[in-house]
Amino acid sequence: MNQANQPIGIFDSGVGGVSVLAQAHALLPAEDFLYYGDNAYAPYGVRSHSQVMERVRWVAGHLLDQGAKALVIACNTATSVAAAELRAELDLPVIGMEPALKPASLCQNGGHILVLATPMTLALPKFAALMERYGQRAVPLPCAGLVEFVERDELDSDALHDHLAYLFGDWPQKPIDAVVLGCTHYIYLRRAIAAFFPATPLLDGNLGTARQLERLLAERNLLRAGHRQGTLTLETSGDAKIIIPLMQRMLHII
Ligand code: DGL
Repeated sequence: MNQANQPIGIFDSGVGGVSVLAQAHALLPAEDFLYYGDNAYAPYGVRSHSQVMERVRWVAGHLLDQGAKALVIACNTATSVAAAELRAELDLPVIGMEPALKPASLCQNGGHILVLATPMTLALPKFAALMERYGQRAVPLPCAGLVEFVERDELDSDALHDHLAYLFGDWPQKPIDAVVLGCTHYIYLRRAIAAFFPATPLLDGNLGTARQLERLLAERNLLRAGHRQGTLTLETSGDAKIIIPLMQRMLHII
């Protein structure tokens, strides 16, 4: 069996990682992808460390059982909790995510950099290390409750606008050089968030993650050869009748 012909496993707590799937598929069109949204357990960010670890292990095992040649953790929160452990345990590429603070730190106009992410992502040591290196002007802004809007397919509503206004407080009136979308769900709120910061770049880590996937597959001779159109298989622990059509639509929003 040629391992390069095996699919890439990619997962998130829910629908947010579909934005990463879309980016990776665009970069690596010949690859087959298996996507798992753990929607029944979303959001991860309000769970305990051990609960998230347990879910990540289960989902990773599920994708490996189907022959995944690499794993993409399309979730900043799950990466912070579980990437190091998975890498230590598995002999295959494990690609994680982190808030795009490094590229954001290059946006220098005398203002702050707002880092939007789940409370859990911002509280864990991985983010502290990132802040240490690139965070001189960064302000971490925990965004409790935002993932739930995306899971409900509520990407543009008065309630969403009110919640964002509450989270942002008076930051939209202050000098901001960049806003980091440090949770893959927030990619789908780009328009709603941009309405508060109209002249500010909103940065995410999706392209960087897709490129890292390509690099690690190339290093191990695992890139699939040939001009073929790869397949995308979508799975969820949630209500498939609702979630799969939502994921299919979200694939095309990006
Ligand atoms: N998409 C996940 C992330 O990037 C959402 C986390 C959650 O489920 O709380 O952080």
